[in-house]
Amino acid sequence: MDKLVVRGRKRLTGEVTISGAKNAAVAVIPAAVMATGVSVLENLPSIEDVRNICHTIQEMGGKCRFLDKHTLEIDCNEGVSYQATFEGVQKMRASYYLIGALLARYKKAEVAMPGGCNFGKRPIDLHLKGFRALGATVIEEDGMVKAYAEKLIGTSIYMDQVSVGATINVMLAATMAEGTTTIENAAKEPHVVDTANYLNMMGANIKGAGTDVIRIKGVPELKGAQYTIIPDQIEAGTYMIAAAITGGDVLVKNIIPKHMDSLTAKLEEMNVKVAEWEDSIRVMADEPLRAVNVKTMSYPGFPTDLQPQIATLLAVCNGTSVLTENVWENRYQYMGELRKLGADVEINGRVATIHGIKHFSGAEVSATDLRAGAAMILAALAAEGETIIDGVRYIDRGYEDVEEKFRAMGAEIDRIPGEQ
Ligand code: EPZ
Repeated sequence: MDKLVVRGRKRLTGEVTISGAKNAAVAVIPAAVMATGVSVLENLPSIEDVRNICHTIQEMGGKCRFLDKHTLEIDCNEGVSYQATFEGVQKMRASYYLIGALLARYKKAEVAMPGGCNFGKRPIDLHLKGFRALGATVIEEDGMVKAYAEKLIGTSIYMDQVSVGATINVMLAATMAEGTTTIENAAKEPHVVDTANYLNMMGANIKGAGTDVIRIKGVPELKGAQYTIIPDQIEAGTYMIAAAITGGDVLVKNIIPKHMDSLTAKLEEMNVKVAEWEDSIRVMADEPLRAVNVKTMSYPGFPTDLQPQIATLLAVCNGTSVLTENVWENRYQYMGELRKLGADVEINGRVATIHGIKHFSGAEVSATDLRAGAAMILAALAAEGETIIDGVRYIDRGYEDVEEKFRAMGAEIDRIPGEQ
């Protein structure tokens, strides 16, 4: 596996351009399977998860062709298999969107159980409950989810818990159901809205995405459409924190500043200066940083996918911070790695108490998952000496050209290719 070598304590300056949103891309691409005609998706991030889902769709008989690094043409006009049982399906969480998409188009789906980052239980009961409410029979056997329906009928669905995946998946299935479906207590994340916007471009009738209640009037068919994916909120947040942790001055470009509000508020509370423009944010950190308390929540709250990165910043602030992880039951596995770099953290269930230290010291660490890997890079950038980060393939799943982007801002970061 590739490794990254980082020589820290270099102040980041200049600018970085944010790629398209991973978690929007991995929902929008499976949604394209629902349409006759051809879709062209622009501003896709060039990352492993996108290549992986495209590969799966090709295995199913769809045609995926990259027109350039960020533009994908998907043609499922002649149909795809309702079965997705290939190796790639198990590699990523988002392959569960194929269940909703196939159920919508074919009223049947057989999809291998999804994999993805491991931070405790990752049930999909709410997805399956939603499909059942729409009239599908759903069984889980032999590592597969199998769902069948004569027809899907719109209904009212209350989500017991706010879930991004269940909201999008049920929305996909309901798009081609008969009648109207209402999803209450829906997730409001930007990628839920992005997926709804793409479906609407293809001819769906979805209202209320981005609020607690989504109303979907079923349509009999969808046509391919041209669509531009939103910028990645989490990649943007990672670079904003990188500027802060290195005492830097960085312009983060191609973003939707509104999506960054929860992070911007915390950075300002910590004494970081943040200036906003229409599609960019400048982050300047030239004063000592104060400890703050952070609780992760669903959007518009502070995103769990920035929790390891903000924890890393808090670890080198003045004072003690309390961090509470409200979304995932076990998302502190990376703390062991952060401690190797010097972090002083106590964990008690979902609460991490972080006592700020002066600075990290370089060591050999591992990326235990995607965002944990991002956190290791941030810590390494702020560390005295050299840090070697193993497990870079996790980072490659979600961050495009990661070392090139950091290097362009003045970081000393190199990749050592692993043995194939
Ligand atoms: C999405 O995962 C993201 N992944 C995750 O990002 C992100 O951490 C998460 O949303 C929360 O924002 C993608 O979009 C591909 P959930 P998802 O369903 O949809 C519980 C990253 O780093 N739950 O919103 O799988 C669940 O256990 C990844 O990019 C159920 O109980 O998350 C969790 O506690 C990692 N039953 C909570 O809901 C269900 O059926 C929120 O999960 C589904 C979820």
